[in-house]
Amino acid sequence: MNSDMPPAQAAHTSHQEELAIRGGKPVRTLPLPWELPGAHWIDEEERALVDQVVKARSPFRFYGPDLQHMVDRLEQEWCETYGHPHALAVSSGTAALSIAMSALELGPGDEVLVPGYLWVSCVAAIVRTGAIPRLVDIDDSFCMDPEDLARKIGPHSRAVLCVHMSGAPGHIDQIAAICQAHGLKLIEDCAQAAGASFKGTPVGRFGHVAIFSFQLNKNMTSGEGGLLVCKDDVLFERIVALHDLGYPRTEEGRLDTIREDCQLWGYGARMSELAGAMALAQKRKLPAITGAMRNAKWRIRDGIQGLNGLSFRHVPDPAGDSGPFLLMQLADSHTADWFVEALRAEGIVGPAGSLACITMRQWGLHWYCNIPSLVERRSNSRDGFPWTHPANSFANGYSYEAGTLPVCDEMRERGVILTIASVLTDQDVEDVIHAIRKVAGALPHA
Ligand SMILES: Cc1ncc(COP(=O)(O)O)c(C=O)c1O
Repeated sequence: MNSDMPPAQAAHTSHQEELAIRGGKPVRTLPLPWELPGAHWIDEEERALVDQVVKARSPFRFYGPDLQHMVDRLEQEWCETYGHPHALAVSSGTAALSIAMSALELGPGDEVLVPGYLWVSCVAAIVRTGAIPRLVDIDDSFCMDPEDLARKIGPHSRAVLCVHMSGAPGHIDQIAAICQAHGLKLIEDCAQAAGASFKGTPVGRFGHVAIFSFQLNKNMTSGEGGLLVCKDDVLFERIVALHDLGYPRTEEGRLDTIREDCQLWGYGARMSELAGAMALAQKRKLPAITGAMRNAKWRIRDGIQGLNGLSFRHVPDPAGDSGPFLLMQLADSHTADWFVEALRAEGIVGPAGSLACITMRQWGLHWYCNIPSLVERRSNSRDGFPWTHPANSFANGYSYEAGTLPVCDEMRERGVILTIASVLTDQDVEDVIHAIRKVAGALPHA
């Protein structure tokens, strides 16, 4: 595409600064910080707790010479802070999703409703458990559209996987009410929204079970890691057994194979004490990390409010936003491409390898139709399971190709995503506002 021109010729730019994309001076030349929210905050606290585990020579959570109980403390503090009756730390958010599916006894013959803006792990967990993903469209909150959810519920629907995308919940209250009215299990995927809330209630408290991720890109990180929360005691027992080797553990941390009511097949997804130490230190910093991102994001949003040709994701409760992303919408895909190119020319870029400013079409496996294994109904086994399972024949006509979800498709075409680092300076925030105002000034008037 010709980057000298906005998508349609605009005659309104003569009074403005020359755009960098047309040879003008860029707003900034230093790259913005990496997105990776928790990573910037790794410091003495993480080092001290990890050191404690190393010095004790006790990196396994269930027994060992001088156990430091890092994972136990993480779970306990998580419950105290966010008001969950039960929490269990695991090795990743992806593992947590699979454990949640199995804990709820989902399998062939069941469909799980899931939004089309998600992460590949959401679909992977459904498919690997033997169930069928049923796609639901999003609304302007970029999260599941409650109206489309209500329309899509059918005789095989057993559960809803609601994903709090890009740091903030959508209409989770309405989705929880629909699930309750239809007797559906609600799983909340809070991987991208640790520390977020909706009208005062922390995420993870609306569903039967919820998961978090502590992978490097998340609001807090132990490099890899995850967490499940739930209310129900029996469900929690299953979760504990499933994350381990399929059995509960005794007080001494040994496997209990005697109890007949909890003999399952485990995922081998325990969290180590080393990851637990990192996650514990990061958990204590989570309000500060999300506070910094939320503050910077909404200062930017306020600073670019009302610009011609630019609209924003609807966040139903801004106070509960954890803040890691600013989602913007342009008139069409052509304009979105140009907008990103022009912003990048102004210096709105991160270090090499970061994804600071991209179009939403470049957002990979976050879109249903960008996931080849879903579109092509791939299987891990030779028999094509679960797509070929007789109990799943109800889903033979389901479509996963682009065109299935019109709102998702439109948001993907027109969207631009700007990551909000957790360590932006006032100057960084001002530069981002300046650059967006400058570039938006060259957009054609509607
Ligand atoms: C929405 C969502 N769900 C689940 C996951 C999986 O988490 P993990 O990377 O810890 O396996 C991610 C991580 O990228 C995610 O964004």
